[in-house]
Amino acid sequence: MEAPRRERISYKKYKNSLLTLVSNLSIAILLFQFPLTDAYSHIRASDQLDDSADTGASALNNNNKLLIILIDGFRWDYYTRQKAKLPGFSQLISDGTHAEWVEPMFPSLSYPTWTTIATGLYPEEHKILGNYMLHRPSPIDTTTNDELSTIPETVFSLLNDSTKLPFWWKFVEQIWTTVTKAGRKVSLANWARCDVPFNGILPEVCTGYVYQDVNTHFRDDLLNALKRLQNGFSLAMVYDDLIDHVGHKFGPDSNELKLTLVHRDAQIRELLMAIQMSGMANKINVIITSDHGMTSLDKTVKRIYLEEFVNMGDVHRVVDYGTVVSIAAEKDRSAALAQSLAAIPSAGVLVYSKDDIPEELHYKRGTFALDFLLVAKPGYFIVGVKGEKQIPNDEKSSSAQPYAGVHGYFNMTDMRTVFFAKGPAFKKGKIQPPFRVVDQYQIFMKVLGLSPNRHHGNWDSVKDMLVA
Ligand SMILES: *[C@@H]1O[C@H](CO)[C@@H](O)[C@H](O)[C@H]1NC(C)=O
Ligand SMILES: *[C@@H]1O[C@H](CO)[C@@H](O)[C@H](O)[C@H]1NC(C)=O
Repeated sequence: MEAPRRERISYKKYKNSLLTLVSNLSIAILLFQFPLTDAYSHIRASDQLDDSADTGASALNNNNKLLIILIDGFRWDYYTRQKAKLPGFSQLISDGTHAEWVEPMFPSLSYPTWTTIATGLYPEEHKILGNYMLHRPSPIDTTTNDELSTIPETVFSLLNDSTKLPFWWKFVEQIWTTVTKAGRKVSLANWARCDVPFNGILPEVCTGYVYQDVNTHFRDDLLNALKRLQNGFSLAMVYDDLIDHVGHKFGPDSNELKLTLVHRDAQIRELLMAIQMSGMANKINVIITSDHGMTSLDKTVKRIYLEEFVNMGDVHRVVDYGTVVSIAAEKDRSAALAQSLAAIPSAGVLVYSKDDIPEELHYKRGTFALDFLLVAKPGYFIVGVKGEKQIPNDEKSSSAQPYAGVHGYFNMTDMRTVFFAKGPAFKKGKIQPPFRVVDQYQIFMKVLGLSPNRHHGNWDSVKDMLVA
């Protein structure tokens, strides 16, 4: 199904791509020039961070340090297909353990998966169903939380601060809150939404996620995370979206993607060297995880134009576009809308009324699930509508070619993702059979020596990666 992949990147192509990358990712590529020795001065700097005081408490927990790095959109085969050019990831893998692949969840989109990684719960329970959501107050629905009925109609959008409204996040406790409650220090960089207090609790250090095309501070985030783990912190979490953005913009098989991976690899390698230099290699566990893969949105993908099927008078809002789309009906127009949606070819898009969403998607009981859920099958792409009813309402949402790479599909090999881990808690050289995104949370808690909250993970799927 997929185009044959070039095993090697020729120098000329490498150079040409480098030029493209410089023009498109000019700032990112600058970081590549930093000499590795720079890492040592950074780590050995005698000036300590302000938050370095708590050495007493940390002494107890020194064996339980964990750095979680979430690299968005890291497809399961990105590493294998160019591993000769990725010495950093290779070192991590040979020193530790990794999954053959991680089975993505539904939907294989960022916000829902990030929240599953941090809770071990499926979206219908943690409530973050997509990168875009719509809250509609429904006073007559007794299953809806009372407080929610008083909140006016509100949009959740990956692209802006609407994601910081506390009511989206009040349902479940994420890992950084649990660890903070246990009296440990947590540091998060570029992580959604550590900046929203949960029951009044915030982690010790948090820089909230900001949507960006080029993350220029990943290297600093990693080295600062290490500094904190050296100075009394138990858990550090660093998020990066560069690989995902390049995958969307240039496609998963582009040289730009491969070069960006080489660039990130250098920063991972630098981190591993810095851990060695810190003298704490026997205390710090490093996990690289991701949320989903990526597939090409090329000419062979069939477009389904929503406007050709629905009467816009029946539609209240269309939420998202591409692979997983939900639609809120106008008052009393639900039956009419159902009828028009039924004309969408089921070979391409599965259309569910909220109550008929299959259990295996773990979605239907989500508080913010809307009247209809549309799920594109691999090989199909849903083009959104023009105008105010579309969320987000930008030129991409109603474009047939908003980007070169896409994700969100259910049950598709290209959506698989990765899990790599090394450190004192993990076996060396162990290759773990595939497990699910929901299975990861319990690994984090085990490494930290804390009891997990209720979750949907299966311990048998992951336990063999850990030393007894
Ligand atoms: C975020 O964007 C959505 C539309 O995409 C909009 O409805 C909402 O008002 C925006 N929220 C903020 C806080 O900017
Ligand atoms: C997943 O995809 C495979 C191969 O395309 C197919 O045989 C299988 O029935 C699908 N499973 C589900 C649950 O859709």
